[in-house]
Amino acid sequence: MQATINGVKLMYTDEGKGTPLVALHGFPLSRGAWQKQVDALKSSYRVIAPDLRGLGESEARPGANTMSQMADDLRALMEHLNTGPVVLIGHSMGGYVTFAFAHKFPGMLRGLVLVGTKAGADSAEAAAGRRATAEKVKTEGARVVVDAMAPKMLAATNTDQAMARSVRGFMEHSKPEGVIGSLLGMAERADSTPFLSQINVPTLIIAGADDTVMPPTESEKLATAIKGARLEKIANAGHLVAFEKADEFNRVLLDWLKTV
Ligand code: MLT
Repeated sequence: MQATINGVKLMYTDEGKGTPLVALHGFPLSRGAWQKQVDALKSSYRVIAPDLRGLGESEARPGANTMSQMADDLRALMEHLNTGPVVLIGHSMGGYVTFAFAHKFPGMLRGLVLVGTKAGADSAEAAAGRRATAEKVKTEGARVVVDAMAPKMLAATNTDQAMARSVRGFMEHSKPEGVIGSLLGMAERADSTPFLSQINVPTLIIAGADDTVMPPTESEKLATAIKGARLEKIANAGHLVAFEKADEFNRVLLDWLKTV
């Protein structure tokens, strides 16, 4: 499905009926990374997964895609789809957008699921690294980032080639302009740590125990700072835990959803 949201054509999946769950993918991924959740949950929930602007099949715009802009896109998409308040699920960069959304639109949330993400901003060094990568993408294309990120998405011990190909597939439609936009947006994102104590909706935090992109210690910090949060670590899973260990992930998510 597609809709023009804030002047940008966004592609999204919208399946099932019931309490709305909205899932935001990480970088440089796309909504296909949530397909195993869509398939498992759509019999009991309405599951919506957009391609964030510039990534997947959604349109790109020049300049930084700030977390705040992507939160505004999500708010407008929810309006378009008439969802009312949702359970918002954010993976990694999608988690950064989730924090921006929770800050701006707290009344539109029923619960939060934070997957392989963190609240802190980039260090000056990390932000400079992202800007340098953005320059490289201008001359060499999105492949520079895809080649660097794809091998880090699954646990180092995972030798499943078909799964590795799928991971690349989730990245292959991203346009250079969109990849640059996300890099610049992440580089300038705010530190959400001070906001964590204000979160007052049920929160589930899920980490892949073998995630090297976002070490599980980041999830532990979130669990300490967010009132009443539940933390689940999934064994033998890397950064893309929802895809790599979908059965375990879905079990944890469905169990928690009963409490929301
Ligand atoms: C992601 O998976 O979304 C990115 O690794 C997040 C980041 O680069 O900070």
